[in-house]
Amino acid sequence: MSWQQLFATKSLEHVMEDVESGERLKRALGPWSLTALGIGAIIGTGIFVLVGKAAHDTTGPALMVSFVVAGLACIFAALCYAEFASMAPVAGSAYTYAYLTLGEMMAWIIGWDLVLEYAVASCTVAHGWSKYFQDLLKIAGLSLPSELSNSPLGVENGAIVSTGAWLDLPAFAIAALVTVILIRGIRESAMLNTIMVIIKLAVVLFVIIAGIPYVKISNWTDNFAPYGYGGVSFFGHLVWGETNPATGLPAGVMAGAALIFFAYLGFDAVSTSAEEAKKPEHDVPFGIIGSLLVCTVLYIAVAAVLTGMVPYNQIQKEAPVANAFEQVGFQGARILVSIGAITGITSVLLVMMCGQPRIFLAMARDGLLPRAFFSDVHPVFKTPWKSTIVTGVMVALGGSLLPLDLLAELTNIGTLFAFVVVCAAVLVLRVTHPDTPRGYRAPLGLATPIMGIALCLLLMFSLGWENWLRLFVWLAIGMVIYFGYGVHHSRLRAVTNAGKHSS
Ligand code: ALA
Repeated sequence: MSWQQLFATKSLEHVMEDVESGERLKRALGPWSLTALGIGAIIGTGIFVLVGKAAHDTTGPALMVSFVVAGLACIFAALCYAEFASMAPVAGSAYTYAYLTLGEMMAWIIGWDLVLEYAVASCTVAHGWSKYFQDLLKIAGLSLPSELSNSPLGVENGAIVSTGAWLDLPAFAIAALVTVILIRGIRESAMLNTIMVIIKLAVVLFVIIAGIPYVKISNWTDNFAPYGYGGVSFFGHLVWGETNPATGLPAGVMAGAALIFFAYLGFDAVSTSAEEAKKPEHDVPFGIIGSLLVCTVLYIAVAAVLTGMVPYNQIQKEAPVANAFEQVGFQGARILVSIGAITGITSVLLVMMCGQPRIFLAMARDGLLPRAFFSDVHPVFKTPWKSTIVTGVMVALGGSLLPLDLLAELTNIGTLFAFVVVCAAVLVLRVTHPDTPRGYRAPLGLATPIMGIALCLLLMFSLGWENWLRLFVWLAIGMVIYFGYGVHHSRLRAVTNAGKHSS
């Protein structure tokens, strides 16, 4: 191993050649399927579950402002993703982008970090699915034994506690089911996804329209931002805003934005399917930006309606949107919302659990993970089936055993880190490769990546310091794997050593 190898970058031509020569994924997705894929990945546990905790404990009605702030950070990052995806339409997303610009070690770090975004997010989402599934069971007068209804671990005032349960069975079951669907193939999944996206969009619109008559302006005006507008801390020191005395955690609009940032995750999953896009240089930017814009508008509207229907301190935390309708006496809507939430959350799982194996695939192609296993494409279904099974096992176990809050915050910090790196990589490429053709170029010159970096860092500092610690531990484990395996098996290293490729 040499120091040069750690910072060796791949050339764009080399990446594209790799894709053309290796086992190819099927190009089956057009612009609308990709937008649906984006919306499918975005609207889920964030807007149906996490908004409850965010409004109740962290923001109050100012949740709307948190959605604006998190949406802005995502839009800058999305523009950078779109530019990159149009330059390098291959599986791997931020991982591949980092390999092209920042070198092999950074690429590995990002690939490893993306597990937090995809696999750990999927665990969070499976949990959210279980909450609404159990709400629906409750409506039908049924319930699961308490041992099988929750994860054995929970979080109280920042500390991990035992809940007395053994396993969240519905979360386990949905992860297993989605794994089977994904092994069968993306075309079928895409069609199923489109149907689910239509249902969940209809339900979100229903929430907004049916909720408006129940909005009381006084719920907004009496105490719009009960915890203020800050909530930014620097490794445990609150630098702006206040702490919620009930939870002992930083609260305010920024802290809320860092939490509900989760609701926006998923637009970048479109870029992980770039290799399966029919016209990637056009369709992928369309899918990324289109899906994010639609969701931003819907989220702000849902936050407004929810905090207008129910005083913020009475918003429930388990299935808050369905419960708001129950509180105003509209039972029929509760059932509809639960069904919509379950459908919507399922489609998030489909996209997220589809993205993870494709990142493994890209890393295995580069030799950073065992190639024979992780890049094995199924002879009949043409899907990366073994990596899909690994992902399924991780999600089923994580989703059924670990607490929701911990998983969501870990996902957020990991994803924000990936966004910072993608924005930085776009910045680097603008300077080092100004003339490389880009199917799409993000507007506002260098301001877009710079704003993306600044806003994502601000949100990272609005998450509690424990998350930074977990991120560092996760990345440290990743470094052990890289120096134990990847560095010795890297294909770029082999090519470099053979003198065929110079970095
Ligand atoms: N944005 C996705 C969700 O909220 C991950 O479920």
